[in-house]
Amino acid sequence: MHKPVNGFSRLSKQEKIDWIATNYTEDAESTKTLLKRYWNTDLSVQKLHDEFIENTVSNYYLPFSIAPNFLINDKLYAIPMAIEESSVVAAASKAAKFWLNKGGFKTTILGTEKVGQVHFMFYGDGARLQRFFDQTKKQFYADASSITKSMERRGGGISDIVLRDLTDQLDNYYQLHCTFETLDAMGANFINSCLEQFSKTLKDQAAQYHDFSEEERQLEIVMSILSNYVPNCVIKAEVSCAVGTLDEGEMGNEQFAKKMVQAISIANADPHRAVTHNKGIMNGVDAVILATGNDFRAVEAGIHAYAAKSGQYSSLTHAEVKNGIFRFWIEIPLALGTVGGLTSLHPLVKLALEILQKPSAQELMQIVAVAGLAQNFAALRSLVTTGIQKGHMKMHLLNLLNQLGATEAEKKSIVAHFKTNTVSNAAVKEALQNIRQ
Ligand code: MEV
Repeated sequence: MHKPVNGFSRLSKQEKIDWIATNYTEDAESTKTLLKRYWNTDLSVQKLHDEFIENTVSNYYLPFSIAPNFLINDKLYAIPMAIEESSVVAAASKAAKFWLNKGGFKTTILGTEKVGQVHFMFYGDGARLQRFFDQTKKQFYADASSITKSMERRGGGISDIVLRDLTDQLDNYYQLHCTFETLDAMGANFINSCLEQFSKTLKDQAAQYHDFSEEERQLEIVMSILSNYVPNCVIKAEVSCAVGTLDEGEMGNEQFAKKMVQAISIANADPHRAVTHNKGIMNGVDAVILATGNDFRAVEAGIHAYAAKSGQYSSLTHAEVKNGIFRFWIEIPLALGTVGGLTSLHPLVKLALEILQKPSAQELMQIVAVAGLAQNFAALRSLVTTGIQKGHMKMHLLNLLNQLGATEAEKKSIVAHFKTNTVSNAAVKEALQNIRQ
């Protein structure tokens, strides 16, 4: 029977390892060896990783990979991706190559507005609250000036503060809906610091507002926090080419273009398909977000809310055939940073940003959206032609062989065998048995 532990965070790293290994694993000694095997041999690098989060006992590796040949706005990129799923990087690279000699990817920034809110309860007259807010609005900016000074010097800062009456959703519920420009920072700390200052100003100013009743002066701050829903921080990325140049030999170009458009219409018609369709897009988006040290949970949450903004969860990508031109595009909200956070701390994140030619946050938005679009193009292209398993199982072959404990020589010979045969779990097992006999 397991017992609760007190003061776990205060134990040394070794004590934490001993405790988890002894209490929660069958073979404590091999657990300890395993956890240590994943430590970095450079102790300063290990310390850095230990200190990213709390209660660290080891590192959890993800492959760090490169998808080359992405032509984006006439500039050539090799895109770093951190992801565990086989065939994602191969698919991205294939899509990049496909569009390389067709003009590449073009992108447009549709907005860079970040959002934060002060949520509060006001027990009184909404019109009087609005008058109070209009009269004190300037004070919010003034009280936050020490926080906003340096961001303003660089051209960013608070864009607007608006009072919102949400009492039709929840009794007495109002908010300060605040928008920000945070330039190359994702801006979470900046925004949250501003919001906490706004909540103080709101409370202090309300307490002394001459026209409020005693009850109105007691407005209650519930919380102040940025929003990961950023529907005005949006990037569009697209590709297009003449239908005749789609190179779909067997199926024919017209039929292929038509099926691609149908695939998107199906995702728009049925959330079961839309979720998987968008999951494929997130294979590309998350992998670049992780490699560049950004917050993939924030991006995921915001993107899925955006996919549901019409009231039905739908495709993030779009396609059309018009006047003989096939056009395929994506529109997603992305709040990213290329300064702050992990960007100057994690050695591989720094390297990823260097490989991407030290992008601004807006450039990174473009690269991430393109990775998502490329991923979706590759997935749909397989789905509407050969089916996904052919390519996927080929890429998964090495995982299967590693699971079966194949030697390097066995792997080499089996990979060669499956160049012309269909990969399946059973077929791989059989091929290995045949070699070993
Ligand atoms: C697998 O990770 C992603 C796909 O399922 C995406 C899709 O179905 O569009 C292949």
